[in-house]
Amino acid sequence: MEQKLRTIAEEALQAANTAESLEQLNDIRVKYLGKKGSLTQVLRGMGSLSAEERPRIGQVANEVRAQIEAALNEKVSAVKEKEKQIRIRAERIDITLPGRPVTLGKKHPLTAVTEEIQNIFLGLGFNIAEGPEIEHDYYNFEALNLPKDHPARDMQDTFFITDEVLLRTHTSPVQVHTMEKTAPNLPVKIIAPGKVYRRDDDATHSPMFHQVEGLAIDRKITFSDLKGVLQIFAEEMFGEKTKTRFRPSYFPFTEPSAEVDISCVMCAGRGCRVCSHTGWLEVLGSGMVHPRVLEMSGYNSEEVTGFAFGMGVERIAMLKYGIDDLRLLFDNDLRFLEQF
Ligand code: DAH
Repeated sequence: MEQKLRTIAEEALQAANTAESLEQLNDIRVKYLGKKGSLTQVLRGMGSLSAEERPRIGQVANEVRAQIEAALNEKVSAVKEKEKQIRIRAERIDITLPGRPVTLGKKHPLTAVTEEIQNIFLGLGFNIAEGPEIEHDYYNFEALNLPKDHPARDMQDTFFITDEVLLRTHTSPVQVHTMEKTAPNLPVKIIAPGKVYRRDDDATHSPMFHQVEGLAIDRKITFSDLKGVLQIFAEEMFGEKTKTRFRPSYFPFTEPSAEVDISCVMCAGRGCRVCSHTGWLEVLGSGMVHPRVLEMSGYNSEEVTGFAFGMGVERIAMLKYGIDDLRLLFDNDLRFLEQF
């Protein structure tokens, strides 16, 4: 019987040794130590032993059980440890790897320039006003002193929706909306950024583009106020050294009217290809609000005066960043946009 027990121990230890999984180890435990296991089976035969032999065999049986149990437990820990190592290796993260860069979006140059223009005028005490892009003929033309058959309408090729409704060709109608709402209160000091539409499409014209309108009305507003405000704008937008030049011009809604040039941003006025060797770049239209425009929208032109101006945002952006084709601003090509 002792021999049998030793054989069981040897077999069990051998099995435990070669086992590779917890499942196998559990099977071995059942096979040798379980209720129907071989060790139990042998012990059932103890009854037939003599009284002297019984305690000795009992002792051997206990030893064998302890031995098998110890071997199994040890192997269970080893297998568990090995599995843990495998898991750790599989889950390993290399914390020394550099992070993956997150691409940050940024403002479109037209948005950036519009905001810059707004900030300059907000700093000068102007408020921001808005108006509809689909406009009545009255606001886009008539109230700006451009009656139905006025030849100056030809300056702005218009998308008409009906005879009376159109896509606004400039932001000047916001002047009219603002005056109608505010009259006869003073002062009026607004800028109006927004989209405008014209039937034009080439390297320097787009059927949709952006303008910023300006309007100031008060008692005793003079042309020198206009000059001062636009000089400050030019310096803040294009640099301190920028000069301005006012050339007589014509707009139906202003009298007198002026086209405003700035000293060339590329050559500082010396003359280059960009300024066609004149040293000057045209940036906006302006003038003193025509008395008829003031009257039509509810202001007494005997008591108040005003100045107005309008500029193209695309043109300002192109000059500021040296962009030579307007269409680049609308292509949404990241290779271009990432440069700003
Ligand atoms: N509305 C004119 C245009 O789109 C620009 C302009 C010129 C606006 C003179 C003004 C102004 O307010 O006084 O060509």
